Amino acid sequence: LNFILLLLLQFTRSSRSSCRISRSFSELEIPPNFVSSVNFISTLPLLVPRSVLNKNILVLCINLLQLSAKYGPVFTIYLGSQRVVVLYGQDEVKEALIDQGDEFSGRGKLALADKLSKGAGIIFSNGERWKQLRRFALTTLRNFGMGKKSVEERIQEEARFLVERLRNTNKRPFDPTIPLAHAVSNIICSIIFGDRFDYEDQKFLTLIKLIEENNELLRSVLGQLYNFFPTLMDYIPGPHQEVIKNSEELRIFVLERVKMHKESLDLSCPRDFIDAFLIKMEQEQQNGQSEFNTENLVRSTLDLFFAGTGTTSTTLRHGLLILLKYPDIEEKVHEEIDRVVGRSRSPCMADRSQMPYTDAVIHEIQRFVNLVPMSVPHAVTRDTHFRQYVIPKGTTVFPALQSVLHDSREFPKPEQFNPGHFLDENGAFKKSDFFMPFSAGKRICVGEGLARMEIFLILTMILQNFTLKSLVDPRDIDIAPQPSVVVNVPKPYQLCVSPR
Ligand code: HEM
Repeated sequence: LNFILLLLLQFTRSSRSSCRISRSFSELEIPPNFVSSVNFISTLPLLVPRSVLNKNILVLCINLLQLSAKYGPVFTIYLGSQRVVVLYGQDEVKEALIDQGDEFSGRGKLALADKLSKGAGIIFSNGERWKQLRRFALTTLRNFGMGKKSVEERIQEEARFLVERLRNTNKRPFDPTIPLAHAVSNIICSIIFGDRFDYEDQKFLTLIKLIEENNELLRSVLGQLYNFFPTLMDYIPGPHQEVIKNSEELRIFVLERVKMHKESLDLSCPRDFIDAFLIKMEQEQQNGQSEFNTENLVRSTLDLFFAGTGTTSTTLRHGLLILLKYPDIEEKVHEEIDRVVGRSRSPCMADRSQMPYTDAVIHEIQRFVNLVPMSVPHAVTRDTHFRQYVIPKGTTVFPALQSVLHDSREFPKPEQFNPGHFLDENGAFKKSDFFMPFSAGKRICVGEGLARMEIFLILTMILQNFTLKSLVDPRDIDIAPQPSVVVNVPKPYQLCVSPR
């Protein structure tokens, strides 16, 4: 593996030196803090050689803070031969994603994702296709409040199944990864496929296994390297080839479901996301420009499933670990739940406005966890003037959400977990413009509303029913995420839950 890394490093240097700046770019003013080919080599050690093999996870320890101190809040790095502009700071991220939202709304290239999605679906598409599919997904997710069962009811139902599963641990230690992943996936399953699965259902277990495996592989050394050196990596055997195989299996699963839905479709009564999409396909049959076709249906479904599973369940898993470390904070949440909800009914979204402390704890969990530190790569849709710089069309942009979530102007001691970051002096909930775990602007997470409901309802339901017990002294619990440039995850742990 080290040999491969060395080889790739060598490849980076040579491919970079032969990389030509495009003609249109060369005619524009080169921003002074773009890392030129001369100082690229001196910057390289910051980018790659500190790669750490950590349980098969390659951490490209890009010390962005250090780079931003040297080059300012807008600077360029090279990943392989790919030029990436990093926006490091709340003002810069907000100015780009919100004030110049259109120009920064493109999706950056990620070779592995491009290979899998072929530009279809929501997350990795661009232009008119992206606009149509995104708008459709947003309205459909919203409208599912109108169906037989509201999204809130679907979450409450699933949270009750989860509570039963946790009760069955009978105070024995367990790793919460799988139960949380099953519960969260089932909520998105219920929205896209029309129903939840039994936790023992073999098809469901295979589906989750494939998703989990792909998440892990995408974070793996070779998975990450594929994005920077796709041509070379195509010739190297390894787990990144598994991702492609797993994705094909997932695609076949969804295609089967689509077929089943077609056979029982009632045009006047959509049961779920797939039905709604099939109806839209019918309506747009005569429209030659329509993006509503089977390929985009399968990809959009997989996008929602993929984006909607690991994110929320990892946040919850990290949240439980944080509460294990701070039993006094857990105790205050218990008190608030008992006062506002009681023990005889399930928590509901209307309770949240009367639960400022719990709301602050949840916001602080998401701030601290910093789940997607660099967001998903963006790209500029045209040559873009940004401050005193020009960013050429198509350049990949990393809006560093971590620089916003951990900004010490807004959150004193940002590396510490402190719900006080979201409370005013009277104990009321305090909003913050720096709360940006779902990103901002035109590409902001499609599932934000759903994810926030899930986190609130599942966490309060767990704490209404159980007290969390750590297997080690809380002072020894390390709540820092495992370092990553892709998705932050907590270190593995076990806990016990004791019925209240
Ligand atoms: C704690 C949970 C979650 C977090 C922290 C999160 C975060 C994010 C972030 C940072 C992005 C990239 C935005 C950008 O490009 O600037 C994103 C995109 C996206 N998320 Fe989420 N997400 C979460 C849950 C969900 C859920 C539950 C769903 C499914 C319903 C979902 C669906 C999507 C989709 C489809 C996109 C692509 C949007 C686009 O390209 O237009 N996410 N999410």
